[in-house]
Amino acid sequence: MQDKPIALVTGANQGIGLQIAKDLASNGFTVLVGSRNLERGETAATEVGPNALALQLDVTDQASIAAAAARIHDDYGRLDVLVNNAAISGTNRQPGQSVEDFAKTTRPSNVSLDEMRAVWDTNVFGVLAVYQAMLPLLRKSTAARIVNVSSGVGSLTTNSDTAFPWRSIFGPVYPASKTALNALTVAMAIELEPEGIRVNAVSPGYTRTNLNGYTGTETVEEGAREAVRVVLLGPDGPTGTFTRWENQTIPW
Ligand SMILES: NC(=O)c1ccc[n+]([C@@H]2O[C@H](COP(=O)([O-])OP(=O)(O)OC[C@H]3O[C@@H](n4cnc5c(N)ncnc54)[C@H](OP(=O)(O)O)[C@@H]3O)[C@@H](O)[C@H]2O)c1
Repeated sequence: MQDKPIALVTGANQGIGLQIAKDLASNGFTVLVGSRNLERGETAATEVGPNALALQLDVTDQASIAAAAARIHDDYGRLDVLVNNAAISGTNRQPGQSVEDFAKTTRPSNVSLDEMRAVWDTNVFGVLAVYQAMLPLLRKSTAARIVNVSSGVGSLTTNSDTAFPWRSIFGPVYPASKTALNALTVAMAIELEPEGIRVNAVSPGYTRTNLNGYTGTETVEEGAREAVRVVLLGPDGPTGTFTRWENQTIPW
């Protein structure tokens, strides 16, 4: 058995997930660097340092998820922290395309249903599938917690406010996938409340990563910090919250 707490971060081979992995490792965690491509995961784990290990994990592939859970079971017998970070913004985003232009191609009237299914498969069903596979391992921990990396663009309350400047980009693909993830977060928090397992959603803010063609304004260090803060909350931390740095509540 490992003395250090064990965290799994999905989609940790680049971007905010990689930074979350680095921050958790420097806070004393053994970090499992989830990556759909094992080689890229291994490169990332080397960058994180000696407390990191790459784990092949494609959140849309049930066999990959089951194998990852079996590996964690065999190596550690438990999981203390699950950060559901992996996500995609689309499958055919053009390089250099602005968020606004991309949103125009994914309105309710013109969006491809296949595109919507592909994004929800990763951002919504992928999270639920990983949750189901990892829950038995989280239940073996004495201080288990789950952080879902969501986005402020998924807030129905904010997008219903006509004064919100970004509401024109709200649409069925990426933004609504985060709305659905928020709903899953509340459902998970309710389910696990009696067991004391905390489940919270966080928003990184508009961060310079592959997801938005590196157009974001925040650094990955800034993007990772709310997720890390919530992971590091003590056993009395809240559950069922949706926050951005630093502990600012975002309305569902
Ligand atoms: N960047 C922002 O402005 C922003 C704002 C709000 C919320 N977020 C959220 O922050 C999280 C991290 O995104 P990011 O900005 O860091 O984007 P990113 O750099 O594109 O990283 C996304 C990660 O998810 C992985 N991934 C995609 N599909 C996967 C799958 N099927 N199985 C496993 N991993 C998969 C990617 O792997 P590959 O390298 O193999 O593609 C990559 O490692 C996401 O949940 C995103 O929605 C980002």
